Amino acid sequence: MTLAEKVGQMTQVEVGSLSDGAVGALGIGSVLSGGGGNPTPNDPKTWAQMVRRVQEQALLSRLGIPLLYGVDAVHGHNNLRGATIFPHNVGLGATRDANLVERVAGITARELLATNVHWTFAPAVSVPQDIRWGRTYEAYGQDPALVSSLGAAFIRGLRNNGVGFADRRRRTVLASPKHFVADGGTTWGSASAYSWIPGLWQSDVPGRWQMDQGDAEVDEEILRSVHLPPYRSAIAAGALSVMVSYSSWNGEKVHAHRYLLTEVLKGELGFDGFVVSDWLGVSQLHPDFEEAVCRAINAGMDMVMVPFDYRRFIAAVEAGHGAGRISLSRIDDACRRILSVKSRLGLFTDPFGDETLLPEVGSTPHRAVAREAVQKSQVLLKNAGDALPLSPHIARLMLAGDAADDIGLQCGGWTIEWHGVRGASTVGTTLLQAVAATVSPTTSVLYKPNGEFSEGGAADVGIVVVSEPPYAEGEGDRDDLSLSADEVALVRRVRGRCKILVLVIYSGRPLIIGEVLDSCDAIVASWLPGTEAAGIADVLFGKARFTGRLPLAWPRDMEQVRSRADGRPLFPLGYGLR
Ligand code: BGC
Ligand code: BGC
Repeated sequence: MTLAEKVGQMTQVEVGSLSDGAVGALGIGSVLSGGGGNPTPNDPKTWAQMVRRVQEQALLSRLGIPLLYGVDAVHGHNNLRGATIFPHNVGLGATRDANLVERVAGITARELLATNVHWTFAPAVSVPQDIRWGRTYEAYGQDPALVSSLGAAFIRGLRNNGVGFADRRRRTVLASPKHFVADGGTTWGSASAYSWIPGLWQSDVPGRWQMDQGDAEVDEEILRSVHLPPYRSAIAAGALSVMVSYSSWNGEKVHAHRYLLTEVLKGELGFDGFVVSDWLGVSQLHPDFEEAVCRAINAGMDMVMVPFDYRRFIAAVEAGHGAGRISLSRIDDACRRILSVKSRLGLFTDPFGDETLLPEVGSTPHRAVAREAVQKSQVLLKNAGDALPLSPHIARLMLAGDAADDIGLQCGGWTIEWHGVRGASTVGTTLLQAVAATVSPTTSVLYKPNGEFSEGGAADVGIVVVSEPPYAEGEGDRDDLSLSADEVALVRRVRGRCKILVLVIYSGRPLIIGEVLDSCDAIVASWLPGTEAAGIADVLFGKARFTGRLPLAWPRDMEQVRSRADGRPLFPLGYGLR
């Protein structure tokens, strides 16, 4: 291999930034679709064609080395319209069911392979310590042991997906446990701005991007006991790539942290796969791009998610090498790790996926597993007077809240678009549809998003659904997690109209609910359930039992969150009524 070919392997480019013929000419090692990096039309067949076309270009390069195509399939193949969308990890954490998580990952792998994708930037094995963090929902919970066990299960599921090559060897989807390390341990207000990367990580809403990508101000003992264990388990489960965190550890960026990347991860933990940077994460290191690139690669970065200006990246590595700042042995090591993973994935045998699986995308059997995951992720927080389960034979039921009939809100971020979208963004079942399909034919189901029911008379049951708006990453950093005044008013309005009031909460984390606690007979934490809200109706009406348990302690008020004191929460970690 020439130097240029080796550096090509270390380069990861966002699909929309590729100029014609660049993959073949430069021997690009990897291409990704970021959040919302979708083809038009956004359907399974067009996805498969888009990825196939890029892969075919790689095969036309001088050496014909296949590339790795990566996406963030963090709760199903979630960029793809019509795919099966599972609960976000926080909900899977509530199930505490490793076997279920393994099956979820197996289905995700099959839907990915159908579209020729063989890499997902998942699972997030973050261990969030402060729920104000906008990425809390991407984590399985606050307990390192829970995160370790479910993260490993996810990685096993990507491998045990039942898909094989012609010679019957297994086809694996590559995992990237992320974000190494302590992304969930940053301090509120510690995030930085990068004047030389304009337009990114800024928000119109004050108070966003405060914590995500910030600084984990913790000692090494905490780093090792809280944030590192999931990586040990992930490596034992066969993880062959790890994504690095934007965040810093005591002021030092992990993207340039030689001790963490090379000594701890590759040395002590024996990780022999490759390390990949995060989106523009290397650019953040220094305004002088060549300097930034030298720091990252010398720290142990093997592949760089550039993701836009790949020619500049390749030139920077070559210049750094020419100036004696990056050794050939470091470049060879990075390249060898990447090629060895491609070989272990079987890409030299068959660089594509398996398009015969296309009919499985969003199929009924896949959705049945998503529905099971939703059932098992529901956490019953309150059930006064045995309000639940509800009888399907009630005469009148009032349903309120926008989220009760909005697929986008129930899926949250990382769904079709990076931040998710409200409305009918993809195919699925809303709670309104699920309830209507569950009650008896004689039950009248009234739905008013704002809860202003004009018809007189009280209902036997009212169900109010409140939700966080969809968000991703630092856009979801929030210093106040209280229900809004409108939401409190909505609950009170419906309270006045029904005998039994059930509150269902769609959120990526616990919210502050003290103001409505006494108004509700039953309260259910639904997390971000994904496309199959029938799983919620199943537990509300007793078709399935409540078994979910809190993956995060549920605080009483914001003071408790902000002070991070050990005071008694409203509901402790592991809580969940049966
Ligand atoms: C996120 C990663 C993600 C990457 C690619 C970044 O902004 O931090 O989790 O894998 O984008 O979409
Ligand atoms: C991309 C995401 C990425 C983010 C990083 C977005 O434009 O769609 O994939 O994670 O930028 O800031």
